[in-house]
Order: sequence, then C-alpha cells, then structure tokens
Amino acid sequence: MKYNYVQSPLPFQGQKRRFLKPFKQALNEFPADAIYVDLFGGSGLLSHTVKQMYPDSTVIYNDFDNYSNRIDNVAKTNTLLSDIRLICAKSDERKERLPDHLKSEVIDRISKEEGFVDWVTISSSLLFSMKYVTSFEQLKKETFYNKVRLSNYTAEGYLEGVLRTKKDYRDLFQDYKNNSNVVFLVDPPYLSTDCTTYSRPDYWKLSDYLNVLKTIEDTSYFYFTSNKSQIIELCEWMQTRGYCMSPFDGGTTVSVNTSLTYNASYEDIMIYKA
Ligand SMILES: C[S@@+](CC[C@H](N)C(=O)[O-])C[C@H]1O[C@@H](n2cnc3c(N)ncnc32)[C@H](O)[C@@H]1O
Repeated sequence: MKYNYVQSPLPFQGQKRRFLKPFKQALNEFPADAIYVDLFGGSGLLSHTVKQMYPDSTVIYNDFDNYSNRIDNVAKTNTLLSDIRLICAKSDERKERLPDHLKSEVIDRISKEEGFVDWVTISSSLLFSMKYVTSFEQLKKETFYNKVRLSNYTAEGYLEGVLRTKKDYRDLFQDYKNNSNVVFLVDPPYLSTDCTTYSRPDYWKLSDYLNVLKTIEDTSYFYFTSNKSQIIELCEWMQTRGYCMSPFDGGTTVSVNTSLTYNASYEDIMIYKA
C-alpha cells in the first residue's frame, strides 16, 4: 500500500515539508536499496518519504522526541479535540480569542483527560501561532484562540516499513558509519531557532553544530540548514582563507526561500552528496 504524506500528520516544528520536492528529486541520484539513517528524525517526514519512494531501502528513523507516541495516540487526540471543537463552536469567530468562560470549559475538559496528552497538537489548536507548551500547568496560563482544525487528524500508514530507534545521533552514527551502502539524513535543530518543543531544547551550542559535521565526512549524505545559522558561511571562509577544506566541498546545494511575513524571509538550504 502506498501512502503519500506531504507534511507530518501531526504538527511538528522544523519538519521538512517545504523541501520534499527537491529532496525527492535529489533522491533519484541515490541508490534504491541503500540504508538511509535519519539521524535527526523529528516527525519522520524524511524517513517516510524515502521509504515510500524506495520500498526496497532500509530506513532507520531516529525518533528522539518520541513522535511515534503522538502518532500512536492520534485517535485519543482526535476525541479530545472534537470535544474542544464543540466548546469553541459556542464562540462566533474562528481564529479569534476565546472568551474566558469558554477557556474555562476547555480547561475543565482537558483536566479530565487521563494518560497521554499531545501538548504540541493541543497548543497548535488553541494558542497563538508558533506558541507551544509542554504541560497542563503552562497551558492554563496562556490566552486561547479558536483554532481547532475542523477535521480529524489521520496518520494511517505514515511510519509503515520504517525502522524506529531512539538514541543520541552520535551513537546511531557509530552504529552505521562503517557500512558501505549507507546514506545519512542530517537535519539537526537549527542554530538560533526555537526548539522548545524538542526533548532537549537547551543543548545546542555552536560546537555541537560543528560536531554534527563529522557525520558528513567521507559519507553519502543530505544535510539541512538555513542561512540563519552561518555554518556554511563559516566553513567556506575557512576554506577560502586556506585553513582547511570545507566539509561541504563537493556537495550540491539547493535553497528554498521561506517567507515569514511580507518583508521578512530566510533561505532553507539542503546540501547533498551521493
Ligand atoms: C529540525 S528537527 C528534524 C526534523 C525532521 N527532519 C522532520 O522533517 O520532521 C531536529 C530534531 O533533532 C532532535 N535532536 C536534538 N538533539 C538530538 C540528539 N542529540 N540526537 C538526535 N536527535 C536530536 C530534535 O529533538 C528534533 O526532533
């Protein structure tokens, strides 16, 4: 059965949906039967895309944030959201601030929820754009907006055929680095972007970003970054000034312009070497 998700089934910051077209195009230059190791799997969108395009490949999805647990609970999340949707429907305006009495009703409903709650999906249904919480205590302090999606989330078949693991990327890299038919997908958290919904938001410093470059040394890879992080600029500077070869030397670069507001934009960058 073929599934074709063009974005992650549940909200995820930093998913590579804008890159899927150039990513698939570039994949044509890579073997159909390789081992693809998605070192920073996030929502698994790259893993999903590779497996659907190359069913004979082996795809290792590093689920560092336990995204698959959110996928496993999608029915429970849908049930909670349909109750919240009914409460929000008592307000006239969609996308507008929810009046206090309706916010209380929503809080009351969520307080009855037992076991797993998908705080990221709840945040994107109720909070101002790009605002995320990771607990009930945080959620209660926020202003609510009527943003619940009108239809249910579906995730059927999304991670089918993909092998899941959950490790620090360095350990996973060690497991596969000596394999001859391996391609590394390298999409670390971006320098100077908001990582609050990731499981280790405080961890990434410049040296950590530079350490990641060890994974593209003499390997087949896809590396993702943006011009907000100046890593490529730094590496090119080192090379042109004669300090050392840039780790990206010999790679092909593809850029995608992402506009944030009418006058602010940045470039997302993918570099790959087969
Ligand atoms: C930019 S996101 C990846 C997005 C993914 N390509 C997608 O399309 O959904 C970076 C991911 O790396 C994870 N991460 C952070 N530190 C890590 C580590 N030490 N090892 C592995 N993954 C890590 C973050 O939690 C986050 O899920």
